[in-house]
Formats: sequence, C-alpha cells, structure tokens
Amino acid sequence: MRDKYIRTIETRNEEETKAFGKFLGEHAKAGDTFCLTGDLGSGKTVLTKGIAEGLGLSDEVTSPTFALMNIYQGEVPLYHFDVYRLEDPSMIADIGFYDFVGSDGVSVIEWADLIQDYLPDGYIRLDIKRDFKTGSDRRVITVYQKGESMAHVLHALEEREKEL
Ligand SMILES: Nc1ncnc2c1ncn2[C@@H]1O[C@H](COP(=O)(O)OP(=O)(O)OP(=O)(O)O)[C@@H](O)[C@H]1O
Ligand SMILES: [Mg+2]
Repeated sequence: MRDKYIRTIETRNEEETKAFGKFLGEHAKAGDTFCLTGDLGSGKTVLTKGIAEGLGLSDEVTSPTFALMNIYQGEVPLYHFDVYRLEDPSMIADIGFYDFVGSDGVSVIEWADLIQDYLPDGYIRLDIKRDFKTGSDRRVITVYQKGESMAHVLHALEEREKEL
C-alpha cells in the first residue's frame, strides 16, 4: 500500500502498544479512520483496545473476526472492523462499511490491506511488525498517512516524540 511514510514507533510489550493506541484515541475525532495492517497476532486488536480507551470507552474490545464489525457506543463511537474473514472485498458494503466509516465515530479496520480498493480517501495506517530476531515482545509500528488527512493526530504525535 503506497501511503506516505510518517515515522516508526517501537514498543517493548503489549502495554506499550496499548498506551500508544490510547494516545491515538485521545487525539482522534469523529470521522477519523485508522487502518491496521500486520500479521496474525502482531497486535492490531491490542492497539484497538488502546484506541477505545483513549476515546473514553471500555477497553473490553474483542476481536470482531466472526462478526466483522463491533460497535462501541460512547460520546464518539468506535466502529471496529476486522475484514480477515470477509469472503470477497467487494462484499464490504454489505456489512455497512460505508454507513460507518467517516461518519460520526472513529473507525478502526484490522487487515485493511485486504480491502485496499475500498478504503476511504483519508486515513492513518499503522503497520505492526514483530521482530523475530529478538524473539521478544517487541513490535515496530510504522505510521503512514493517506492524503492529507488526520493532521491533528499526526501533529499530536510529533509533539509526543519531542517529549520522549
Ligand atoms: N509489543 C506488543 N504489542 C502488542 N501485542 C503484543 C506485544 N508483545 C506481545 N504481544 C502479544 O501479541 C498478541 C497480539 O494479539 P492481537 O490479538 O492484538 O493481534 P492481532 O494483530 O489483532 O491478530 P489477528 O490478526 O488475529 O486479529 C497478544 O497476545 C499480545 O499479548
Ligand atoms: Mg485482531
């Protein structure tokens, strides 16, 4: 996926990934979309739990692998998609994708690379990779931007990096 590279963030354990997600959720606005890519078990759902927490929702987020989408109601709702089991990308409209993405809530799409042609014009993508060399819980999260979207989140990220 040819999105604009922004920066990489490294996490050493699940808690750090979740904390990063929380930061993203705290700075997200209604209509924002986070696309998550990365292998099975890389930490996409963990990151989503953090985003939920940052939105002020419970972090009791479960993988919507079978349901394809879960809705968490709140001041700003979270629409959590996992399209791994979607039979065909073109079926995305059938699960209400376009009714939710870019609407009154924040959307998170796990396995977004499987529906590349159906993604909105603007999003932030987070690609999570394990470092098998270290064999540890380390993850490298690469942040990409599609279009000029969600500058408010990227600006906050820039400020955060300065502080670290
Ligand atoms: N640094 C880390 N960040 C995130 N998760 C980690 C980290 N280190 C270890 N883990 C573990 O990796 C697993 C990540 O699982 P998670 O369900 O979030 O993956 P996923 O990318 O959503 O997988 P799937 O593609 O099946 O949906 C968890 O068991 C978590 O405890
Ligand atoms: Mg998952």
